[in-house]
Amino acid sequence: MIDISNRDFTRLVTFIKHNYGINLANKRQLIMGRLSPMLSRLGYANFTDYIDYIITTEHKSDIDQLLNRLTTNYTFFMREVNHFDYFKDTVLPQLVANKKDRTLSIWSAGCSSGQEPYTLSMLMKEYLGSDFDKWDTRILATDISMNALSLAAKGIYSEDALKDMPNGFKSRYFRPLTNKTDYQVINEIRENVIFRTFNLMDPIRFKRPFDVIFCRNVMIYFDKDTKEDLCRRFYNATYPGGYLFIGHSENLTNKDLPYEHIMPSAYRKPLR
Ligand SMILES: C[S@@+](CC[C@H](N)C(=O)[O-])C[C@H]1O[C@@H](n2cnc3c(N)ncnc32)[C@H](O)[C@@H]1O
Repeated sequence: MIDISNRDFTRLVTFIKHNYGINLANKRQLIMGRLSPMLSRLGYANFTDYIDYIITTEHKSDIDQLLNRLTTNYTFFMREVNHFDYFKDTVLPQLVANKKDRTLSIWSAGCSSGQEPYTLSMLMKEYLGSDFDKWDTRILATDISMNALSLAAKGIYSEDALKDMPNGFKSRYFRPLTNKTDYQVINEIRENVIFRTFNLMDPIRFKRPFDVIFCRNVMIYFDKDTKEDLCRRFYNATYPGGYLFIGHSENLTNKDLPYEHIMPSAYRKPLR
């Protein structure tokens, strides 16, 4: 493993935190462990030259490689399932009753390899049934890890990964692949999810506000100010009456945001 000096460690940690929000101040081993093989492969004998290169050029494909290694993309189907239950039993019925334009605007921010937005897509299909086609239900799913997004777009998961899916979901929403060990999300559900690269540190400028934002287990890597700034931007990008779901181990610390706390790690923007 290539050792990293205090100075280079601070430079890299500062660069990542400033640009991507991720706080790696206590992750020296993780940085050395995850980056050393890549540095060797690229022909760098030390971190100094690599960090000089990254910071001075900010070359997109090199930054992508770095982010692929430094992000933690751990996720699984039906994670923090009570949020999905609430989405299905309360949020969807409410939105469907009130959205006259038949548009449901959902964002999975920090979607990793796609399990969260695909589940939301399946729940919408379950709820709307034959009316699914009559609604604009496209889910925006974003991340900064290109590796995670590429896995997400394929929508291929092992049979074991589907073990916690509700009854019937495996047969209705996945098709077995010929290798007999993997399953792919069916086209109708895949096409309903739009995967995009988006850095949550950037201004949120999408075409329309959102009815629901899921940003779960992403801000755990951010410091308090970064998290509060992002939650304020989420609030401004949400329709009145819209929802924000964050991870179970997280909470909203913004004192000035009038979000109503509706259940653990779930918030609603007041209707007026
Ligand atoms: C642990 S995964 C969470 C996946 C899913 N939301 C869940 O709860 O299981 C965190 C994801 O956040 C992404 N992420 C971290 N910082 C980000 C940023 N600044 N902008 C966008 N995505 C980010 C990572 O790439 C990673 O895929």
